[in-house]
Amino acid sequence: MHTLPSPEKKKQFVREKFSSISGRYDLLNSLLSLQIDRYWRWRTTRLLRQFADGWVLDLCAGTLPLSLELARQAKKRRVLSIDFCEDMLRAGARNLPHDDRCQRIYPVCGDGEVLPAPSNSFWGCTVAFGVRNLSRTLQGLQEMHRILKPTGALLILEFSRPTNPIIKPIYTFYLNHILPAVAGLISGDREAYQYLASSIAAFYEPEELMAMMREAGFTQVSRIPLTFGIASIYRGVKA
Ligand SMILES: C[S@@+](CC[C@H](N)C(=O)[O-])C[C@H]1O[C@@H](n2cnc3c(N)ncnc32)[C@H](O)[C@@H]1O
Repeated sequence: MHTLPSPEKKKQFVREKFSSISGRYDLLNSLLSLQIDRYWRWRTTRLLRQFADGWVLDLCAGTLPLSLELARQAKKRRVLSIDFCEDMLRAGARNLPHDDRCQRIYPVCGDGEVLPAPSNSFWGCTVAFGVRNLSRTLQGLQEMHRILKPTGALLILEFSRPTNPIIKPIYTFYLNHILPAVAGLISGDREAYQYLASSIAAFYEPEELMAMMREAGFTQVSRIPLTFGIASIYRGVKA
């Protein structure tokens, strides 16, 4: 199994890996998840429907798929899309559709652990498949809490590990063997997808992540497992 880099090196490693796969990221996402990821982002975004107006911060926005869904579901919403990998944001910006959404999505290069955004300013904060990549998870969660307005909601969409005894071995085999081989061939960077498998295996248990969300100040913390628990939505509210 691929060894994870030390926390100090992780940031640089993660940025380089995403930079290297940025051109093929969207294609591989759809291919390897059979487009189920689109449904997961749709479900996540639906949970912000009471905040149809005003600003949402989409952290670890990458090629902007969740930002686009956030802007699609609410015509008056504006999205600040932050990512520390410029190549991912550029790849997303190149493919923005020519409709009103491109006027309401603002990609900005920045670090999720030191957010370049004012406190108490956003009704929602979303992070899809990004929390796992942070070097300092608690610091990132505290930053997400800081930028939210009181009663604003945090929604984290992240991979989790299925516990079903039939699904678990199939999924583990797919993640460790099939996915790095196929994605490595298409993206030209097998290591990036070995990292994906290692980082999912090493990530917190749902209860641990929820405890960290509470430690960062969130209340009403809950989890919605998706597709046999392969992914989960975590929700928290700023009191
Ligand atoms: C798996 S991609 C997710 C992209 C997108 N949210 C999606 O739904 O497909 C993870 C993204 O997190 C970004 N990222 C990782 N650590 C970060 C940090 N500390 N600050 C900002 N972005 C970060 C990476 O550059 C990458 O674009």
